Amino acid sequence: MKVEFYKHNIWIIDVFNLLKVLKGIFLTTWKTVDKFERKLSLYTWNKYSIWMKSCTIALFLSLKYFNIWKWDEVITTPLSFVSTANSIEHTWAKPVFVDVDKKTWNIDLKKIEWKITSKTKAIIVVHLYWQMVDIVKLKWITDKYNIKIIEDSAHCVEWENNWIRPWNISNCACFSFSTIKNITSWEWGAISTNDKSMSDWLKKARLHWISKSAAQRYGLTYEHYDMEFLWYKSNMTNIDASLLLNQIDNIDKLLLKRERISQKYNDWFKNNENIGYPDVLLNWVHARHLYTILIKDSWLRDTYIYKLQKAWIWVAVNFRTIHLMSYYKKKYSYKRGDFPNAEFYWDATISIPLYPKLRNSEINYIIKIINSINYAT
Ligand SMILES: Cc1ncc(COP(=O)(O)O)c(C=O)c1O
Repeated sequence: MKVEFYKHNIWIIDVFNLLKVLKGIFLTTWKTVDKFERKLSLYTWNKYSIWMKSCTIALFLSLKYFNIWKWDEVITTPLSFVSTANSIEHTWAKPVFVDVDKKTWNIDLKKIEWKITSKTKAIIVVHLYWQMVDIVKLKWITDKYNIKIIEDSAHCVEWENNWIRPWNISNCACFSFSTIKNITSWEWGAISTNDKSMSDWLKKARLHWISKSAAQRYGLTYEHYDMEFLWYKSNMTNIDASLLLNQIDNIDKLLLKRERISQKYNDWFKNNENIGYPDVLLNWVHARHLYTILIKDSWLRDTYIYKLQKAWIWVAVNFRTIHLMSYYKKKYSYKRGDFPNAEFYWDATISIPLYPKLRNSEINYIIKIINSINYAT
């Protein structure tokens, strides 16, 4: 049986929403985008949501809004997708890595203060695996040093902890709706914030920093536009937003399905002594974007990958550590051993299929294959 690593949640209703947009005049940024932004704000309990071309651009523009520039430093984790650190590099600032915590596999809050200097202007935390970073604790630290918190929430729109959604107390959160995310319109991203001036700035920044978009200029009263800064084009379109309207309405139902599958995996893997997990904190709702397992004998991780692929089950490794990518190794002289915990999870983990369209027969098949892997064969 072949099991895909991911399937999206686009249904016939999304196709109807898309057709409605195609029948209209404005294919680019207008009412459908506005509608999705309102829905996202309602869901994230933040006042403002701003559509962006991608989460990477969202991270980059958030840093630019906070005037991050050459000679500044931005703290982040080495265990993430490269775009987290790349967004910092693009501002000319220096990404400063802090190793991950052995329990949660996310950035180790206890080690952050060791890396803060007079040049530290912001921190990008990434909510990965089964955890969100404890933003309340983090804010205690960053407030002391007047450091901005930007959340890389590419993997989680759904997080909640004791009535706090993390981005309610940070400066902003950046989401991704790229192909394999919990809700997707093939690419694109967004920023969520409670800061009105940030929202106003970003709405201009995403379209050459011009003061009126095409939709705002269209109609009975033509409004002229101005441009104050030289900027990029990174707005998203009605076409893309149309695919997300139904998904955001159903995001909690989709999450429930992910929860059920994760629970079933937990139940069936709990007696498998070869496998470990990150700690799951009580009372936290998490997005269940990835189901990542740790192969305790890390040198056998690739044996697992090979055997799963031989059984036609597609898997992934999330993530290869950023500091050991050729670009970062060369530029900052990083080497193996610099961030041992992150390197350990890169060496020892595998993400297995987890998505609402996964059928029971496929789940049972994955469980059967993983539990039957025997190193000797
Ligand atoms: C943790 C993390 N951050 C950022 C991104 C970038 O998202 P995008 O592809 O929307 O730029 C990704 C993409 O997979 C990711 O996994």
